[in-house]
Amino acid sequence: MREHDVIIIGGGLAGCRAALEIKRTNPSIDVGLVAKTHPIRSHSVAAQGGIAASLQNVDPDDSWEAHAFDTVKGSDYLADQDAVEILTKEAPGVIIDLEHMGVLFSRLPDGRIAQRAFGGHSHKRTCYAADKTGHAMLHELVNNLRRNQVQVYEEWYVMQLILEEGEAKGVVMYHIKDGELEVVCAKVVMFATGGYGRVFNTTSNDFASTGDGLGMSAVAGVPLEDMEFVQFHPTGLYPVGVLISEAVRGEGAYLINSEGRRFMEDYAPKQMELAPRDITSRSITLEIRAGRGVNLDGSAGGPFVYLDLRHLGEEKIMSRVPFCWEEAHRLVGVDAIYEPMPVRPTAHYCMGGIPVNTSGQVRSGQNGLVEGFFAAGECACVSVHGANRLGSNSLLECVVYGQRTGAAIAQYIQNRKMPEFDAQVYLKRANKQIQSLLEQKGTMRIAKLRQEFQDCMSQHCGVFRTETVMLEGLAKLQQLKEKYGQIYLDDKEKCWNTELIEALELRNIMIVGEMILTSALNRQESRGAHSREDYTSRDDGNFLSHTLAYYSPVGIELNYLPVVINRFEPKERKY
Ligand code: FUM
Repeated sequence: MREHDVIIIGGGLAGCRAALEIKRTNPSIDVGLVAKTHPIRSHSVAAQGGIAASLQNVDPDDSWEAHAFDTVKGSDYLADQDAVEILTKEAPGVIIDLEHMGVLFSRLPDGRIAQRAFGGHSHKRTCYAADKTGHAMLHELVNNLRRNQVQVYEEWYVMQLILEEGEAKGVVMYHIKDGELEVVCAKVVMFATGGYGRVFNTTSNDFASTGDGLGMSAVAGVPLEDMEFVQFHPTGLYPVGVLISEAVRGEGAYLINSEGRRFMEDYAPKQMELAPRDITSRSITLEIRAGRGVNLDGSAGGPFVYLDLRHLGEEKIMSRVPFCWEEAHRLVGVDAIYEPMPVRPTAHYCMGGIPVNTSGQVRSGQNGLVEGFFAAGECACVSVHGANRLGSNSLLECVVYGQRTGAAIAQYIQNRKMPEFDAQVYLKRANKQIQSLLEQKGTMRIAKLRQEFQDCMSQHCGVFRTETVMLEGLAKLQQLKEKYGQIYLDDKEKCWNTELIEALELRNIMIVGEMILTSALNRQESRGAHSREDYTSRDDGNFLSHTLAYYSPVGIELNYLPVVINRFEPKERKY
């Protein structure tokens, strides 16, 4: 059995930032970091448009209070305001720290960090590195892992969180290269495992975003918070779903329907294309439903709308959003200098997740905490995003709460002993799980079952929801879950068996999907990204609270957690 003081699962921004902070606080703490891909390929690398902070480089009237208000309003008043205050107050400092690490931000002519407009933000406060901001940040943070002697386990897949009597003790992990199983014992386990975009059939997320940390936590008995709030990014490139950054609209691009009209004037006349994502995604969906979408031959009635950049001109397109231009050119053959891009909403971000306090320690329920267990980044819910996240607040959350969680862990382990448990029990169980998957003699291909599950989630829990549609979805999910026992694997080998990894991931996808649908069914109101056609208003009287969902194979139980409101009283949201 391996031992580390701290084992961090996830090689993206939150995990790397936490590891760095632990080492900066106390270099003698032994930190291991496990990533199922190479850390540089974690999904943070795909973040495009930027990271928000009230630096006041472009807009001297900005302030952390304005940033906090925009975030809370954007969240449809479900965000915890103490956590938002920390996020927005600490934002300028973390950007300067990143700059000192060497992150190559885009610059103003006078050399200060450039800032652009983003949806739902009242000031130009999004710092960026063209449209490759995650790439610029992650590279520096991964370099810092090496520099600080963090032991990195690349391409290991974590199968189980070891949690006994309310205490996290370690993980079981599988080496994708050769099939070796290992148990890691640690004083602290931290999850920074990212999101779950692959629960849906069209997503901006990469293939690794399968909600593993959420699935493992749920199975271990940890509740998941606010899982009904799924962000659909308005501009997924049609038909592939990859992200066309909000930065494109921040730089001035228009959304156009089949009549050639900027339809956002009907939905958000003040903010237009820079309304928050929930509103913009609903507006696009309504245009398509009303027959004002576009077909590939340019005729009306189709499944997408246009994102028109042409008036920005070649110089601006190629200097500010070159990667988005390249994506459209490479993937759908559109040259955005001369033609509009086809776009529609795509599953993008998980507002909910593993509930944590503002030090990143995982909550066991309404009151308690789980000893030895921390989380940060997209897999965690501290809740700074509430029911709808503003663009460019997620990279910020990874860095601010990655850093805070790292600092908290460095203190926490001073009073903690290495836990004790029987590693052989976990090794045998993991081995048995793998053997039975390899030996299973069913007729169902993994890809087919996964596709059916993803189709079901997109159809029954998308941008708009109703009780009838969600109940049908849940019934279908139950049937699909039963088919998991009928999958078969062609590859029986130990070396680089990605089919086996896909089978393990599918189990997490299924658990997370069921948590999302069950939480969504229960919230009988419309708030942020959770838009019910049978309950069209926000209902603060009954639902101004966080959902806590507890998983068990026989059913999911729900409970509630109060929202922290200490600065901004809930109001109607208008843009
Ligand atoms: O549109 C984007 O560039 C995405 C940014 C974000 O999700 O924060």
